[in-house]
Amino acid sequence: MSDDNATEAVRQWRAAAPGSVLLDGLHALKHAIRFDAEVRQVITSDKAGVLELAAGLAGDVTGRIGELLVEVPDHTLRELVPRGHTTRIAALAARRDRTVNTAALEAPDRRAPVVVLDNPRNLGNVGAVVRLAAGFGAAGVVTTGDIDPWHPNAVRAGAGLHYATAVEQLPLDGFPPGPLYVLDPEGDDIRSVTVPDDALLVFGSERHGVSPELRARASRLLALPMRPQVSSYNLATSVAMGLFHWAGPEQLPASRR
Ligand SMILES: C[S@@+](CC[C@H](N)C(=O)[O-])C[C@H]1O[C@@H](n2cnc3c(N)ncnc32)[C@H](O)[C@@H]1O
Repeated sequence: MSDDNATEAVRQWRAAAPGSVLLDGLHALKHAIRFDAEVRQVITSDKAGVLELAAGLAGDVTGRIGELLVEVPDHTLRELVPRGHTTRIAALAARRDRTVNTAALEAPDRRAPVVVLDNPRNLGNVGAVVRLAAGFGAAGVVTTGDIDPWHPNAVRAGAGLHYATAVEQLPLDGFPPGPLYVLDPEGDDIRSVTVPDDALLVFGSERHGVSPELRARASRLLALPMRPQVSSYNLATSVAMGLFHWAGPEQLPASRR
């Protein structure tokens, strides 16, 4: 690597970082490219090693990664991506366009539910839910409350799949249209209910469950089956079960990308 290239890469990274989404690791970058993210910069401390890894894991995007990669010294990578950095590659990308997300969430012919997380507290859960929504082909993930669902830790937990679905933080009065199917242990057994494609599937916060405001607006309250004495499931696993129930065996994606 030339010193000039590395110095220029650092300058560009510092300039772009404040308004960009951090993609930490090859897995996140792979998905971001597959789902048409505008990737602004990619740095690595081991170009040959990362390209070899990419060829094994993501042959379809290895060429593009090779075009974008700039090699920098290992200490520079660690300085630019200090928090939780464990891999040899990181990238900056633009957020998915809000108007594109809004169009997907509000489409009048929407054929898949929107997952709503009511005031989630755990960024790992948020990312895991985005990953589920992407895998099941849900229309999007809407969060309420103060956590940014595009926080780097959520993007990392979501493996970069924020680009494969519409992820937005919205106020209650800005929700997309559709009946609210609220998941709550006190509801009707979900197995007795068909979840419509235009539903908003609402899940409560890890600490306090669903807020009284959303509960009051529910079209249905749905319970996931649980043995007595178990008080609740983890948020992301509840979303997995809710989406699995909605999809049924016929609607599950036929193959993994
Ligand atoms: C960890 S739980 C919340 C626990 C919280 N302490 C409470 O009092 O509700 C997070 C969310 O997952 C969903 N959930 C968990 N277990 C459920 C169940 N058995 N039936 C329906 N929803 C469930 C609910 O939406 C719940 O608000």
